[in-house]
Amino acid sequence: MSTKWTANDAPDQTGKVAIITGANSGLGFETTRGLVRKNATVVMACRDLKKGDAALEKIRREFPDAKVELMQLDLADLDSVRQFADNFKQRYSRLDLLVNNAGIMAIPFRETKQGFEMQFGTNHLGHFALTGLLLPLMLETPGQPRVVTTSSGLHMIGDLNFADLNWSKGYTPQKAYGRSKLSNLLFAYELQHRLDAQGAKVLSVASHPGYAATNLQTAGAIMEGKPFKERMALLGNRLFAQSAEMGALPTLYAATAPDVKGGQYFGPSGLLEMRGYPKVVSSNKKSRDPELAAKLWAVSEELTGVSFSKTPVEQR
Ligand SMILES: NC(=O)c1ccc[n+]([C@@H]2O[C@H](COP(=O)([O-])OP(=O)(O)OC[C@H]3O[C@@H](n4cnc5c(N)ncnc54)[C@H](OP(=O)(O)O)[C@@H]3O)[C@@H](O)[C@H]2O)c1
Repeated sequence: MSTKWTANDAPDQTGKVAIITGANSGLGFETTRGLVRKNATVVMACRDLKKGDAALEKIRREFPDAKVELMQLDLADLDSVRQFADNFKQRYSRLDLLVNNAGIMAIPFRETKQGFEMQFGTNHLGHFALTGLLLPLMLETPGQPRVVTTSSGLHMIGDLNFADLNWSKGYTPQKAYGRSKLSNLLFAYELQHRLDAQGAKVLSVASHPGYAATNLQTAGAIMEGKPFKERMALLGNRLFAQSAEMGALPTLYAATAPDVKGGQYFGPSGLLEMRGYPKVVSSNKKSRDPELAAKLWAVSEELTGVSFSKTPVEQR
């Protein structure tokens, strides 16, 4: 891995089809730019079509020949996830890259359409279901398709209380975020384990952006109606965060670099992995716990109704 890898170093992606969730904003938008620049066909999967359209136009202005389109996806509604997967499969006969990027952080308590705590439901369960529904197509796609799942350094504050996934005994926004990001890693590693067991060529890898200035940091304060908290988050972004363009590099590396191996985790190389160029990073012991991963997998299949056993990636 070169020490100063940038989006320009990504290999040409001509002929490849990618889906990026949350592509209208922040890291998803920058990941879209990076892939479009290298000639990938990109489906921007966005929950808000108006925002998605504005982002798509921005991409088209910068890259007039971009092979890019917008499709609606609300990860907080499993019916929408199914509809998206069906629509995608009707339009495309291959999927080389699925970037499970969309996310929300430290928001006040809310529930998804199916009644799951919103951060766990969106960040983990929505992506779990989406991957399960699209994996059969990825397994049929020539080459070495990849699933890249975005986690965070804050996976370290996460734990999984299976007896109370909906926080009925007291909700902590930050801890719920940590739980969702721990789940992203457990899922990414467990998926690779199952792919390996089947001898499948699809890779599952994970990434985190360090601290990047996006809408993520203000979303909770805006939902709470707390302008001071919002201003503090903006100030923090201005003083300490790196750009979204830099923050997207670990994801772009994981998505495109030829030397990537399944089960790897990429993040920034600078101090405390908060900023910098991409490198392989490690995650905590809990995120590599195979028993916890197997339990989360079984619970996620049950909660989403999406079974990976219908694909070759069956249960341990
Ligand atoms: N920025 C950081 O410092 C940082 C650090 C660690 C990890 N991350 C991770 O990076 C990922 C991207 O976040 P970001 O920083 O780029 O934040 P962002 O600018 O707020 O972008 C988040 C994206 O997710 C979308 N989204 C939210 N809920 C959704 C839903 N129910 N269905 C579909 N899309 C949904 C948002 O759509 P709307 O625009 O419609 O809201 C937006 O496009 C997240 O997984 C986050 O946890 C970020």
